[in-house]
Amino acid sequence: MLLRRQVILSAAACGMLSPALVACSSSADEQEAAQALRRPLTGADSDHTHVMRELVRYATLAPSSHNTQCWTFHLQDRAIVIAPDLSRRCPVVDPDDHHLYVSLGCATENLAHAALAAGMQANASFDAGGKGDITVSLESTRASVTPMFQAIAERQCTRGDYDGQPISNDELRLLERAGMGNGVRVMLLTERAAMEKVLAYVVAGNTAQMDNPAFVAELKEWIRFSANEAQMTGDGLFAATTGNPTMPRWLASPAMSLFYTPKSENDRYARQIRNSAGIAVFVSESSDKAYWIESGRCYERFALQATALGLRNAFVNQPVEVGSIRPQLASALGLGSQRPDLVVRFGRGPKMPMSMRRPVQSVLV
Ligand SMILES: Cc1cc2nc3c(=O)[nH]c(=O)nc-3n(C[C@H](O)[C@H](O)[C@H](O)COP(=O)(O)O)c2cc1C
Repeated sequence: MLLRRQVILSAAACGMLSPALVACSSSADEQEAAQALRRPLTGADSDHTHVMRELVRYATLAPSSHNTQCWTFHLQDRAIVIAPDLSRRCPVVDPDDHHLYVSLGCATENLAHAALAAGMQANASFDAGGKGDITVSLESTRASVTPMFQAIAERQCTRGDYDGQPISNDELRLLERAGMGNGVRVMLLTERAAMEKVLAYVVAGNTAQMDNPAFVAELKEWIRFSANEAQMTGDGLFAATTGNPTMPRWLASPAMSLFYTPKSENDRYARQIRNSAGIAVFVSESSDKAYWIESGRCYERFALQATALGLRNAFVNQPVEVGSIRPQLASALGLGSQRPDLVVRFGRGPKMPMSMRRPVQSVLV
């Protein structure tokens, strides 16, 4: 995804343009705002509505495809209902809403950890015959501040280079345990041959997506080319989170097609998969919304565990997003008819700027 797919303008292009037009890093204001969204959870002792709103804030710090934040939250007395916001669908990259429901699963997982920190046990249920809502009921319990909870405000999808070093077996075991769920498992690939095999499908998927004008147009709609744009919308893929220069849309949007080439992107993916410690593939036993939500919960636990260990991760989902390539990946991994849901690289590397979120009042119904 341009930013997501780490496209945009090369450093050379950045150097060719006037410094007045191009800011090669995110603005301090934007990062201050992003940090403020991630302030510590407050109000375990304050009124019930304040605590519930704080839980929603922590839920919204979850990842979502294209940072669409495709959710709304309904507060009830002893429950929070997370509902899909279908106005934020991405029909090209996600025609069956798979990623949308995975994103809701990620938010559910954050909500559960935050609730426990505030002294509430969360129980999530999904009504497969209903409108796609997840009801998270909350029961009083002893508050527990876990390392996964503490990682929520720190977690990010880190799209930079990693250090090329392996991680320890103990760390791999913790990641594996975190990523397992009910009918969903995570496969951790650390052998170079297996990683190269997945890389070939990432390259094939990325090439297919970049050759699809509808994919590129949809992606462009969700890119936030400048810090201003990112702050004003509070959503989308902010250029700086990928280490790309930021600039006004009128300049970046037409220039994108000059520099967003399959070769430069594929080269970058090859380098970044090769400097990762491994690739995680999340696989569900069956393919429907309940499993996609569970897959999101598993991924989010994996990401929080990784963050708690000082590890970074980033999605490389192209092979599961392109319908003709997904079964090829499944077959190469020996998955039979099971669906590979998500593909993620992990390792150690520097943090990148944080992405924005919409304020709590915008997602409350
Ligand atoms: C289901 C799902 C699919 C995603 N796919 C990709 C992807 O293929 N490539 C990528 O760079 N980021 C991907 N992302 C990451 C989002 O773009 C990211 O979560 C969002 O921009 C917010 O940034 P943050 O997670 O750092 O807060 C995906 C996230 C989710 C939940």
